[in-house]
Amino acid sequence: MMKYRRLGDAGIKVSVVALGGWINFGEGKVAPEVARRVVERAYERGINFFDLADIYGKGEAEAQMGAILRQFPRHTLVIATKVFWPMSDDVNDRGLSRKHIFESIDRSLRRLGADYVDIYFCHRPDPETPIEETAQAMHDLVRMGKVLYWGTSEWSAVEIVEAHAICERYGWAKPKVEQPQYSMLWRERVEREIAPVTRPRGIGLVVWSPLAMGMLTGKYDDGVPADTRFGREDWARERYLTAANAERVRRLKPIAEQLGISRAQLALAWALREPQVSSVIIGATRPEQIDDNAGAAEVTLSAEVLEAIEEVLAWPGHATDQGVSAHSHN
Ligand SMILES: NC(=O)c1ccc[n+]([C@@H]2O[C@H](COP(=O)([O-])OP(=O)(O)OC[C@H]3O[C@@H](n4cnc5c(N)ncnc54)[C@H](OP(=O)(O)O)[C@@H]3O)[C@@H](O)[C@H]2O)c1
Repeated sequence: MMKYRRLGDAGIKVSVVALGGWINFGEGKVAPEVARRVVERAYERGINFFDLADIYGKGEAEAQMGAILRQFPRHTLVIATKVFWPMSDDVNDRGLSRKHIFESIDRSLRRLGADYVDIYFCHRPDPETPIEETAQAMHDLVRMGKVLYWGTSEWSAVEIVEAHAICERYGWAKPKVEQPQYSMLWRERVEREIAPVTRPRGIGLVVWSPLAMGMLTGKYDDGVPADTRFGREDWARERYLTAANAERVRRLKPIAEQLGISRAQLALAWALREPQVSSVIIGATRPEQIDDNAGAAEVTLSAEVLEAIEEVLAWPGHATDQGVSAHSHN
């Protein structure tokens, strides 16, 4: 059975496993009929939270997933999208200015075929716009009913604290969620920097690439099949498929086997061990991956198992985050 958690201290509830639309939607990499079955299987498995962005497939992911989601009652869906990355060469068609935010939400809603989005994310911080201007624009969209909750993605602790404080000062809608990268192989930034400031402010975490783009499933134990994320994307393979990570993932196998679960489920249940993580946002190229990943909602890891995992991850010295790049792998 799927489980649901609140988004920080907000009342809305999101499925602990969410489906994202990056790369697998709007770019033609997954056959449209298969992509449709992926979304439908997710919904059948109780996934209610679907994460998109204007930049995914330059608008095409919102259009593709939005068209599939329209068959379901709107109130049963939590639809998120994002704004920040350049959508054209125009000087104002980017960033977090009031102008770009107001123009972008209307374009996203049109592509999604929706009257509102449940969550609107600032996809990165924008050093060229005051946080106050961005926060006020988000507050205004909430008041207009186009956005129900707003959040940030890959913002620093300092930026999150400032946005929250400004909203508190002016009585504006506060950010309720941050979307960072977080997995067994990419954990330090969240654990050291982000969780300590978001937790006391009632800001939930919905985390991306919780399977390290497939690395943690064990699918690369014996090499890189062509029809996989790492087979298609050199930069993703280079980021995660190091000798140390490959060995860690191999050592996780007996732990998962003893529990009678897959390594994907182990990795997702591990990320969800912390109640502040509202959702793990997975990607999927086939319906069977949805079944596997949704199964993580039923797994609770004991203290002994968590300790055994820590030992594996610590070998031969903790994996360290390599920093989030500013390029368009988003
Ligand atoms: N805010 C941001 O900046 C940001 C950045 C990146 C992503 N995101 C969000 O996070 C979502 C998920 O990112 P992600 O796709 O990198 O997440 P992920 O879940 O770590 O990786 C997903 C990929 O791993 C493979 N996979 C998934 N489940 C599997 C299973 N059970 N067995 C075997 N292989 C499996 C599939 O790729 P193959 O089948 O192709 O191998 C799938 O596309 C995105 O769609 C997006 O919504 C946000």
